[in-house]
Amino acid sequence: MRDPSAEWHIDIGDYPSAGSDAEKLSFLLRYAILAPSGHNTQPWMFQIQGDQVELYADRTRGLPVVDPYDRALTLSCGAAIGSLRIAMRRFGHEGIFELLPAAGDPDLLARIRLGNSWTPSAVDHSLFEAITRRRTTRRPFENEPLPEQLIDQLRAIAAEDAVELVLLTEASAKSAVAALVAEGDRIQFADPRFRRELGSWVHSRRAASRDGMSGAGFGMPDVLSSIGGLVIRTFDMGKGIGAKDQEISLHSPALAIVATAGDEPRDWLSAGAAHMVMLLAAGACGLTAAYLNQPVEVDELRPRLAAAAGVQGVPQLLFRLGRGPQIQPAVRRPVAEVLRKLG
Ligand SMILES: Cc1cc2nc3c(=O)[nH]c(=O)nc-3n(C[C@H](O)[C@H](O)[C@H](O)COP(=O)(O)O)c2cc1C
Repeated sequence: MRDPSAEWHIDIGDYPSAGSDAEKLSFLLRYAILAPSGHNTQPWMFQIQGDQVELYADRTRGLPVVDPYDRALTLSCGAAIGSLRIAMRRFGHEGIFELLPAAGDPDLLARIRLGNSWTPSAVDHSLFEAITRRRTTRRPFENEPLPEQLIDQLRAIAAEDAVELVLLTEASAKSAVAALVAEGDRIQFADPRFRRELGSWVHSRRAASRDGMSGAGFGMPDVLSSIGGLVIRTFDMGKGIGAKDQEISLHSPALAIVATAGDEPRDWLSAGAAHMVMLLAAGACGLTAAYLNQPVEVDELRPRLAAAAGVQGVPQLLFRLGRGPQIQPAVRRPVAEVLRKLG
């Protein structure tokens, strides 16, 4: 049986510095696939052509109930772009990212080249090193404020990708948003289709598919993962989960909302890339994150989230930041499985 964490162990010495652009891009994709994705669907497909790599949305991995517009799918692909950008810089390339380059092909999300040479800074190195350490940590966080320097860095990242970042650290602001998270849980879990879809993506880290979420990620022993899926499918646990999420949100040092001026695939890609780099900046400070995306996913809660948090644009992602326990990484499909062969 393959090590379920294999994709997270990358030897930087394997970088083909004397190789072709195609060989370099193929290596760098090992960092792209470590990006987070909704339900760990990993909805991406890549194709290397000469000196460029194309990123395609794999819509067969969509989540029609929780994500009917493929927004989270596109945000996830944006996160892969963010990870790739940081990896490229670490290995001395500026990275050129052309988003949605073909008007007639909405599945082609980006065309990417290495571009000019880049001298990586100390920050570039620290962001890069956080890629393989990043986890979605659904446990409670320590009650300790975010470092000021991290807050400045998060704002700079938002500016680079032209997205809006709202950080909530005061109890009153957090509590209004935490109440919406709980309401989102209740609405979502009351829908058997939502439960069936979520349950079908919960399985053991040792399952052959190398995607989806293990019960371990939710704090249960991994061996219970298959039962976890069954339990999720069968019972409406929205009230209990809502109460727990509300509590956990309120006691996290910061809630972060990434929003965009528009609400189109291009905005989703930018928000996905920016939030990935924010997660890495947090990781470089020893912090971690967990998503509370329910109020973004439930249509009627989205404007209420914007109003409660003072967001000017359209909220795309809601996550909490703080110091959490070390957990096992989630499984990933290897690059070979997501690289489309030409011809
Ligand atoms: C766009 C997006 C939305 C997500 N929404 C949620 C969410 O609402 N709740 C949650 O627990 N995790 C959410 N996740 C986290 C994924 O479940 C997680 O990334 C995936 O299981 C892989 O685990 P990892 O991030 O530890 O690698 C989301 C991730 C992305 C990229």
